Amino acid sequence: METQVGIVGAGPAGLVLSHLLALQGIDNVVLEQKTRDRVESRVRAGVLEQGSADLLIDTGVGGRMVAEGAVHEGVNLQFDGERHRIDFTALADGRTITVYGQQEVVKDLIAARLAAGGTILFEAEDVAPHDVIGPAPSLTFRHCGSERELACSVVAGCDGFHGVCRDAIPRRARREFGREYPFGWLGILAAVAPSTDELIYAFSERGFALHSLRSPEISRLYLQVDPADHVSNWPDERIWDELRLRLASPGWTLHEGPVLEKAITGMRSFVCEPMQYGNLFLAGDAAHIVPPTGAKGMNLAIADVTVLARALAAHFNDGDRAGLERYSERCLGRVWRVQDFSNTMTELLHVLPGDDPFSSRVQRAKQRYVESSVAMRRTIAENYVGLPLD
Ligand code: FAD
Ligand code: DHB
Repeated sequence: METQVGIVGAGPAGLVLSHLLALQGIDNVVLEQKTRDRVESRVRAGVLEQGSADLLIDTGVGGRMVAEGAVHEGVNLQFDGERHRIDFTALADGRTITVYGQQEVVKDLIAARLAAGGTILFEAEDVAPHDVIGPAPSLTFRHCGSERELACSVVAGCDGFHGVCRDAIPRRARREFGREYPFGWLGILAAVAPSTDELIYAFSERGFALHSLRSPEISRLYLQVDPADHVSNWPDERIWDELRLRLASPGWTLHEGPVLEKAITGMRSFVCEPMQYGNLFLAGDAAHIVPPTGAKGMNLAIADVTVLARALAAHFNDGDRAGLERYSERCLGRVWRVQDFSNTMTELLHVLPGDDPFSSRVQRAKQRYVESSVAMRRTIAENYVGLPLD
């Protein structure tokens, strides 16, 4: 098999890249280790920045998102029961976010690629990149019981944090930065109408809680928990009790319903520099992870591949490699900005276990500053809706 761009991973990064390249007439093949059903049913992020939503609309894959997603003009930050609205209309020049599940974005992209005759090989096992530093890389893998090889000019490593592509950059040629947080999120999907029109990020002495939504019938909620905790310790009643206590605000009621899904995820910040090695380009979680408090993971993945698709179009269609050589530097500027924002939101809103009294007082001072300062709320608003790509 032969193609121009071999893409590893059919998450948001790999699928958006495949779609954008196809629109520019650039041949590509996506290799995904999981089944289509598994990829389409993984419950993950749910907030699209204005720029991400615009990209999906402008490139013809935003129809269902526009029909079924919800445009939000603000979010709420809550400290000890007091709610403060971050008003995007007033503070972020009218930019908005769209609440639409990541797996719905993935479904829409898979359907669009297959309808356009694109190739996505699901259940591709033991994918391995070769010779990525030179002009003729390849990907070997097993598919439907036979050993296969995909020859390509460029490999796009869109295979998430636990993928194989990052390790194709020799250790001496890359530097990794990161930290693990001493807490995780227990996330649930519940069959109940959301108790709020806009997201609520709540700090309380019992820990962080987030009320998000998916549709008029489905709510998405999260609780700060110990990262080593297990869902078996969290029967539905305990989850609702804790959510009720942490999200409590005068005059407001949390509606409860059947829990459809629950999972605990650890939280980390991570960056691999550079994001390029020869003809291998990393994008999305393969190159960086942010803690989810800023709702940035999927958006950062989409931003990376937007830059990469433009650079690949200049390379394949105009013979200009300058954009590819600047890819890593361009992306890392945004990546570190988003790391700062995600870290700031995380430290503002979580109870830091074993925290010393000094840090707690500083955290309270930051929360009060959100309440009192328009400048602080503007900073949160403009980062939350997403900074422009260019
Ligand atoms: P992924 O979505 O991880 O896609 C990578 C793809 O590559 C996957 O389909 C994977 O199966 C495939 N793959 C991996 N290894 C190989 C291989 N060797 N060969 C072939 N294919 C391979 N962000 C938020 O903002 N809010 C959240 O609530 C949230 N929850 C999350 C929960 C979990 C469990 C995880 C892992 C992430 C979560 N995120 C969340 C982050 C957000 O979902 C990611 O940032 C986003 O999925 C990044 O997209 P991606 O395409 O880079 O990576
Ligand atoms: C959702 C996830 C997030 O990480 C976040 O910050 C906001 C919303 C969600 O799944 O809806």
